[in-house]
Amino acid sequence: MKKVLLILLFISIGCQNKSEKAYYMSSKGVGPIINVTLEDKVNISMANSGEKLFNQLCTSCHIINEDYIGPSMVGILDRRSPEWIMNMILNPIQMLEEDPIAIELLKEYNFEYMYNQNLLEEEAREILEYFRLLD
Ligand code: HEC
Repeated sequence: MKKVLLILLFISIGCQNKSEKAYYMSSKGVGPIINVTLEDKVNISMANSGEKLFNQLCTSCHIINEDYIGPSMVGILDRRSPEWIMNMILNPIQMLEEDPIAIELLKEYNFEYMYNQNLLEEEAREILEYFRLLD
């Protein structure tokens, strides 16, 4: 009987994690990006441009594979939707005011505000392509 209860407990914890992940992955955030289609293969030339942009604009607060002033970007596509990521890059101020996940992060990262660097949609898309290489 105890064993059965234990097994049920593990199953329910497993489901909870799954639904939590589904919640994070289904959120698209707030901002201009409604729908992003990712091709099966990473576009290397876009990813290279994205890497350059990231190194120019983002590394004052982000180390790619370590938590710093802001979070590491490793595995970001496993925890956020592509739309959410691009909206965070293009529209961080409104995201940090209105999006529940961004607000959670703001608390976690000591109320350090990511600011808007006025990137073009295309540039944010290139950075997203670069992030696909990190998983
Ligand atoms: C002034 C520091 C700063 C700069 C510059 C900055 N960020 Fe951030 N970023 C943060 C912080 C801090 C967070 C966590 C949320 C918060 O507190 O604002 C964050 C969160 C994020 C997130 C969400 C991470 C997650 O785990 O969900 C992404 C994606 C992101 N940043 C991408 C970028 C990109 C791309 C750039 C460059 C174009 C950039 N950031 C520039 C500070 C910064």
